[in-house]
Amino acid sequence: MDFQLKTLDTARAATEKADALVVLVPESFSSDASDPLSTAVAAARKAGDLESKAGKLLSLYRPAGIAAPRVLLAGAGDGSAGAVRQAVTAAVSGLKALTSVRRIVVVLPAGLSDAPAAVRAAVNAAADASYVFTTTKPKADARRIERVTVGVADTAPVREAFAHASAQVVGVEFAKEWGNRPSNHATPTLLADAARTLGKLPRIKVEVLGPREVAKLGMGSFMAVAQGSEQELRFIVLRYDGASKGEAPVVLVGKGITFDTGGISIKPAGEMDEMKFDMCGAASVLGTFRALAELQPAINVVGLIPAAENMPDGRALKPGDVVTSMSGQTIEVLNTDAEGRLVLCDALTYAERFEPRAVVDIATLTGACVVALGAVRSGLFSSDDALAASLQAAGDTAMDLCWRMPLDDDYADGLKTNFADVANVAGRAGGAVTAAKFLQRFARKYPWAHLDIAGSAWKGGAAKGSTGRPVGLLLQYVVSQVGQPVKPVPAKKVARKAPAKVAKPVVAAKSARNPAT
Ligand code: BES
Ligand code: MN
Ligand code: ZN
Repeated sequence: MDFQLKTLDTARAATEKADALVVLVPESFSSDASDPLSTAVAAARKAGDLESKAGKLLSLYRPAGIAAPRVLLAGAGDGSAGAVRQAVTAAVSGLKALTSVRRIVVVLPAGLSDAPAAVRAAVNAAADASYVFTTTKPKADARRIERVTVGVADTAPVREAFAHASAQVVGVEFAKEWGNRPSNHATPTLLADAARTLGKLPRIKVEVLGPREVAKLGMGSFMAVAQGSEQELRFIVLRYDGASKGEAPVVLVGKGITFDTGGISIKPAGEMDEMKFDMCGAASVLGTFRALAELQPAINVVGLIPAAENMPDGRALKPGDVVTSMSGQTIEVLNTDAEGRLVLCDALTYAERFEPRAVVDIATLTGACVVALGAVRSGLFSSDDALAASLQAAGDTAMDLCWRMPLDDDYADGLKTNFADVANVAGRAGGAVTAAKFLQRFARKYPWAHLDIAGSAWKGGAAKGSTGRPVGLLLQYVVSQVGQPVKPVPAKKVARKAPAKVAKPVVAAKSARNPAT
């Protein structure tokens, strides 16, 4: 779908050729003018037929003096970005069912308190409301809307916001596509192929590691998760080089579990299909790179994706097994369903080599986070106050919200075990926090944050589908770091533990899944 920005007042909008005209009418809308649209708004208001409450619609068909055959007057409340989002969502949801609507013009009135935010909200809402997944349902009513023109009184102050939003939409839709694909259409290998397609875009390079390379790196924890699946693991490394070579990058690490059965600690059958979404962290990293290629900001970004399937099998990891992570720390796997942290910990260790300015991991990590925050805000965990503040602010700007959660050391007590340096689960209480405490042990060499997107990455029920979150937050955060000085790494560097001596584990016969044996 194509977006355009255009200078339009209500008088000019009335002459615009389009299949549908959506006119946002906030409480502040002045209908003093005598053009046909203003007159229609004034008359409808007077008759009590037009409510300014966000999301309320009044449809006109072939109104006199207006070029577009369909006009939607859309209440836009206080004119805030949130109200604009609601209004455009309602209007476009109604229009997408009409077979002959291909070109829409959305008119934002003058005098909005934050015009750039309104433009961003309008672009994102129009894209979101008209999105259709067709990869495995080609006969679905595909998106017919081809072009959305956003009309504003003055384009200059909103041009940057418009460019940002248009790039964001491309990234969000890339993330939705891969999030929505079922696991047999989105294996670790296919996910790596998707990443490789991004490598064809300007300034992006992609490298894909397979089982042998990963074994060589000593990623014993990541490999242990993958060993129960017929599907080979992939470790995907993306680079976006927007700044000079020496500039410390932001590293984004995305959980790429292409299907999470729970492994031997198998999940109940109900809604297990939704565990195809367990790679939405990875999809958000891919989507962010897709958007970076559009926007071309002057910053370096690295993306890391450990991709694997979590399956029960004769060779699968078993509760009580002890694995050795790339960091050298040994991990007792008390629950094979806590696999996200097992793949992320090795990626976090790998991230050290980039001497990053910050590392942000994104993961559908815990059901506990869904209980805590629901679908509205992603969970944000960080030991670095400045990084946490930047991410929270980016989420606010992008209307892709998160909420900071605690990381007190006492939460790590439950991870103690007699059999390894750390256990992969604590008790049920505070499950989102104890998961973050586990990750923190592997992320001590750089400013680090963790986003638990278990509640925000997809919707269940009738509207089941990926949301593309938190591409908006991540893109905004990365862009906010352009030109920002890199904070010096704290002097108190935590010494890396010498790899513990552990007895070689018993593994199955040599195979693609076990190349190290
Ligand atoms: N992918 C799940 C988390 C999840 C569950 C996200 C439900 C969204 C909805 C993760 O791998 C997982 O299974 N976590 C366990 C951890 C537990 C075993 C400590 C969970 O949350 O139940
Ligand atoms: Mn799991
Ligand atoms: Zn999982």
